[in-house]
Amino acid sequence: MTLDIARIREHTPATSELIHFNNAGAALSPTPVQEALLQHLGLEQRIGGYEAATHAHPQIENFYSAFARLFNCDTDEVAWAENATHGWNTLLHAIPFKSGDRILTGQSEYGSNYLAFLHLCRLRNVHIEVIPNDANGRICLDRLTAAIDNNVRLIALTHVPSQSGVIHPATEIGQIARTHDILYLLDACQSAGQLPLDVNALGCDMLTGTGRKYLRGPRGTGFMYVRKEIIGTLTPAWIDLHSASWAAENTYQLRDDARRFENWESFVAGKIALGVAVDYAMEIGMEAIAKRVGYLASCLREQLSMVNSISVHESGEHLSGIVTFSKKDETPQELQHRLQSAGINISTSKLRSNVLDFGRRGLGDINRASVHYYNTEEEVERFCQVITAT
Ligand SMILES: Cc1ncc(COP(=O)(O)O)c(C=O)c1O
Repeated sequence: MTLDIARIREHTPATSELIHFNNAGAALSPTPVQEALLQHLGLEQRIGGYEAATHAHPQIENFYSAFARLFNCDTDEVAWAENATHGWNTLLHAIPFKSGDRILTGQSEYGSNYLAFLHLCRLRNVHIEVIPNDANGRICLDRLTAAIDNNVRLIALTHVPSQSGVIHPATEIGQIARTHDILYLLDACQSAGQLPLDVNALGCDMLTGTGRKYLRGPRGTGFMYVRKEIIGTLTPAWIDLHSASWAAENTYQLRDDARRFENWESFVAGKIALGVAVDYAMEIGMEAIAKRVGYLASCLREQLSMVNSISVHESGEHLSGIVTFSKKDETPQELQHRLQSAGINISTSKLRSNVLDFGRRGLGDINRASVHYYNTEEEVERFCQVITAT
C-alpha cells in the first residue's frame, strides 16, 4: 500500500462524517484493525476465551513480531501493556534504585509520568530534576549534560509531548545517556505511529506507548520495549504465573525476556488488533506517514497563525502533528464544544494535567488539534473556516 488517501479514508469510515483532529487523544482505527478485534471477540463468544486464544496463537505472536519490525528490535524485547502509564510504572518500579539516586526528566513530561516520579520519590527516596526547555520549547541538551553526576540513575523523557507541538531530541539524549552509561526510558506514546522509531538509533533502554493514538489501535492497549542486555537487571514489582514459573514450593524463576513485565490475563482481542494496526502502519510506511502528518500540521499552523484572534503556542523546526493554540474570544471548552457541534473533534489540554509545563510557560487551559495522515488539506481549510465563524 502507498499513501493512497482515498483508499485510506475508505478504511476510515468516520472521515465521511466528521473531521477528526483528536488523533493525539485517540485516532480512528482502520477497518482491518476493527475487523481483527471483532473477529477475535466473536471467536471467544463462539468457542470460549481460552480455546480462542489457542486458536489465534499466531495472531497473538504477531503482536510481538509487528512491534519488533516497527522498532527494529527482537521479539523477546517486546512486551504487552494495557496502557502506556501502566508500562511506564511497571518499568520504573523495576529499576533497582537506591536512596539518593537522581532521575533527570523534561519540563513537558506527561502528567501521569511525572506523578509516577513523585510517588517514587516518596517510596524510594530518589530525587527528580526537571531540565528546562530551550527557547524553542525543546529540552535543553546543555542543561541536561550539565546536570549529570554519578548519582544520575535514569533519564526519562516524553518524546512527543501531549500538550505541546514539539518533538524532543530523543536521539541526541540517547547519545548522552550512552556516553554516561545512564539508563534511558523513553515515552513514545505520541511518537509511535507518527514518526519512524528505531530503538538502536534512539539509544533508549526502555520505551513505552499506547495503542489508541497514532498507531490507530483499539483503546485499552499498549506496549513496552526493553533492551535485551538490561532485562535481567530489572525486577518486576509484582509477578504471576506468566511472568515467572513456580519451580518448587518456595522458589520461582522470572522469565528472561521482556514478557517478565506482563500479566497473564490480557485483552487478547486488543493485542491481536494492535498487531494488525502496526502492520497497517508499516505497510503504508513510517517515513511517508511522518512526512504527511508534518505537512498537514504545518498547513494547519500556518492558517491558524493568520487568524487575529488565535495564538499558536509552538514554533521552531522540530514540530509534531499536535497543534496547540488559544482563541481570544472563546474559552477552550466553548470552542471544543462549538466545533464538536459542527462535526469537528479537537481537545482541550488542561493546566491541571500539565502543572509542570503550563505552570512554567504561564499557560492556562488551551486547545489542541492533532492531525493524522488520513486527514486532508480540505479538512484543514474547513476547520479554519469554522473556527473563525463566530
Ligand atoms: C505523551 C503521553 N504519555 C503517556 C500517556 C498516557 O497514555 P495512557 O493513557 O495509555 O496510559 C499519554 C496519553 O495521553 C501521552 O500523551
